[in-house]
Amino acid sequence: MPDIPFLIFSSFVLFIPAFVANPAAVITGGHFPMDFGRKFIDGKRILGDGKTWSGYFGGSLSGVVVGLILYGMFLLLGLQNYLSYGNGILSVTVTLFAMSFGSLTGDVMGSFIKRRIGIERGGKGSLLDQWPFALVSFLFLFIFSTNFFMTYYGNIIGAVSILIITPPLHRLVNIIGFRMKKKEVPW
Ligand code: CTP
Ligand code: MG
Repeated sequence: MPDIPFLIFSSFVLFIPAFVANPAAVITGGHFPMDFGRKFIDGKRILGDGKTWSGYFGGSLSGVVVGLILYGMFLLLGLQNYLSYGNGILSVTVTLFAMSFGSLTGDVMGSFIKRRIGIERGGKGSLLDQWPFALVSFLFLFIFSTNFFMTYYGNIIGAVSILIITPPLHRLVNIIGFRMKKKEVPW
């Protein structure tokens, strides 16, 4: 019988790199639009100026760094048997790259869909702003770090707790970013 509160807690704590990648992209972003300014066949921008290479790589790599810090903390606290990104630095790094790059790849996919349905850059996407990053992070983890994925998110409790916590957390972080004048809109 799995310990449910602990599973919810660990699924959240281990997902911090995926959460961090998005606000970090706001800080490093703004340079080199990922669609190079080009339009899709519908005449609208493929992604828009809100998705840049500097945000994508800066945000993803920030997630990896935060994950490595967490990994070091779990070791120092003797928690590595309970909170683990993998066995050894190589598998830990693979997990963190999959999680963080998955997060911002999902963010890009969300923007692609937003543009196609006519929501302009910075427009409110609701769940399209809040879920794709978590879902694609799960997908990348499933592909590149299957053991880790199955341990923490391959069960209904771990996966659903992330999907439930993500919308209010995303909103809260964006309100903070807005108050700090890092974001133009509070969503
Ligand atoms: N950002 C970036 N590159 C990314 C992701 C984010 O440069 N890959 C920066 C942009 O300056 C962006 C800001 O972070 O405006 C906020 O991110 P987000 O809310 O995801 O973008 P939006 O501007 O709302 O654009 P969209 O409607 O496409 O989501
Ligand atoms: Mg936005």
